[in-house]
Amino acid sequence: MSEALRTSFSNIGYIAASVLFILSLAGLSKQESARRGNALGIAGMLLALLATAMRPDFSGYGLLMVALVPGAIIGGILARRVQMTSMPQLVAILHSFVGAAAVLVGLATYLGHAGEMSPAEHKIHLGEIYIGICIGAITFTGSVIAFLKLQGTMSGKPLILPARHLINLMMLVITVGIGVWFFRSSETAPNGLWPLIFAIVVTGILGAHSVMAIGGADMPVVVSMLNSYSGWAAAAAGFMLGNDLLIITGALVGSSGAILSLIMCRGMNRSLVSVILGGFGTAEGTSSNASTAAQGEVRSIDIAGAAEQLKTAKSVVIVPGYGLAVAQAQHALSDVVRSLQSRGVKVRFAIHPVAGRLPGHMNVLLAEADIPYDIVLEMEEINEDMPETDLVLVIGANDIVNPSAYEDPNSPIAGMPVIEVWKAGTVIVMKRGMASGYAGIDNPLFFRPNTLLLFGDAKKTVEGLRNALTT
Ligand code: TAP
Repeated sequence: MSEALRTSFSNIGYIAASVLFILSLAGLSKQESARRGNALGIAGMLLALLATAMRPDFSGYGLLMVALVPGAIIGGILARRVQMTSMPQLVAILHSFVGAAAVLVGLATYLGHAGEMSPAEHKIHLGEIYIGICIGAITFTGSVIAFLKLQGTMSGKPLILPARHLINLMMLVITVGIGVWFFRSSETAPNGLWPLIFAIVVTGILGAHSVMAIGGADMPVVVSMLNSYSGWAAAAAGFMLGNDLLIITGALVGSSGAILSLIMCRGMNRSLVSVILGGFGTAEGTSSNASTAAQGEVRSIDIAGAAEQLKTAKSVVIVPGYGLAVAQAQHALSDVVRSLQSRGVKVRFAIHPVAGRLPGHMNVLLAEADIPYDIVLEMEEINEDMPETDLVLVIGANDIVNPSAYEDPNSPIAGMPVIEVWKAGTVIVMKRGMASGYAGIDNPLFFRPNTLLLFGDAKKTVEGLRNALTT
């Protein structure tokens, strides 16, 4: 095949892959079309690989296979094995790979042969390399810290250093200073390796420090923010390599990640700026457990008692949380819902934006169990109905129903909107014991006079309810 033909096919492939990526994102924005969106994304990626391999300047087929085949096998095995509840860690570590790739591409581009360039083009090229390497290093270390926190290897508590904003600002100023040094050293010959190494170290520390300063219930926003950074890192690598598809794909990931972060920030009543600067989620000097003096008597209920309450209720709201996902209780829950509906009970679900451990976690679980979308409502849609609700079933949820978010200004989750279950007639909380949730704080809901605790593994208790309702 002639060079011109290969270039044309490759360009057409790139355009088609870009369209597929855009359609994929559109599909992923709704549950009903998410599967199709995923398939379109996979097709786009396959096409992107083929189109890249067709480029006339591409010659490393052997190397491509050495990287691609083991990478695809390892990725496939990891993706099949990973538990739904461990997805955020997997996503975080994958973001770190993108960051590392941007750093390595930057170094290789700098040290490789750049070809003929005018002085202006040379400056732009150096700018692409420097910015790409800095974004890559921030993404890499930030994502590794996020991975360690989500995995539980590192404490989830925020590291709040005194004058942390000043430290971040100083590191930014130093990065700009090193950038000037890099440009000067690279004017006539590529003598800027040392400034690049220093920049990687400083921005790497900046990325790690920003994420260390965030913790507890605010981690979801960090993951989506790092998702956005990884997109910008990929786009920067695209500029360095002169690869349009990588620029488009990176920009799509970067902007969609930024929009998701904004949506999550709104859902959690946090400002995006504070996420970028790091260090929110815990007021300085406040220990997480000191925030809430949750005390008093806990009243418990057994499965038979809970089933009776469900039978006599007219309207029931179910609040699923992380524990439901761990227990895999969604299928038994689906039977409970059908059984209640056949008795004329109005059943709806209340979904908090950060319930579980990844965005949309609960929606995926409920869809898996064939629970109709139209009874699954967002927090803000259902909160106003709480006072008219007879019974709320909280299944394996904790932080997302914690009233101290509103009542205790010193709480690490202060200001975060929660599902106002305590306003309902009766609240039955299903969990195994009195353990706290992800944010590690007490929950005064458990001690409210209208709260009853149904202790046990969520799957066993939901199955018990199903059996009690069908007999
Ligand atoms: P959590 O606050 O984590 O509470 C889950 C509760 O489920 C725990 O209190 C636990 O109590 C109970 N539980 C665990 N296993 C169970 C089982 N097998 N059966 C019954 N109960 C079980 O969950 P949530 O309310 O869904 O809130 C999510 C939290 O995770 C938020 O703080 C959020 O910020 C954070 N987070 C979210 C994401 C995303 S993107 N959604 C990502 C990272 C972190 P027992 O041990 O006593 O049973």
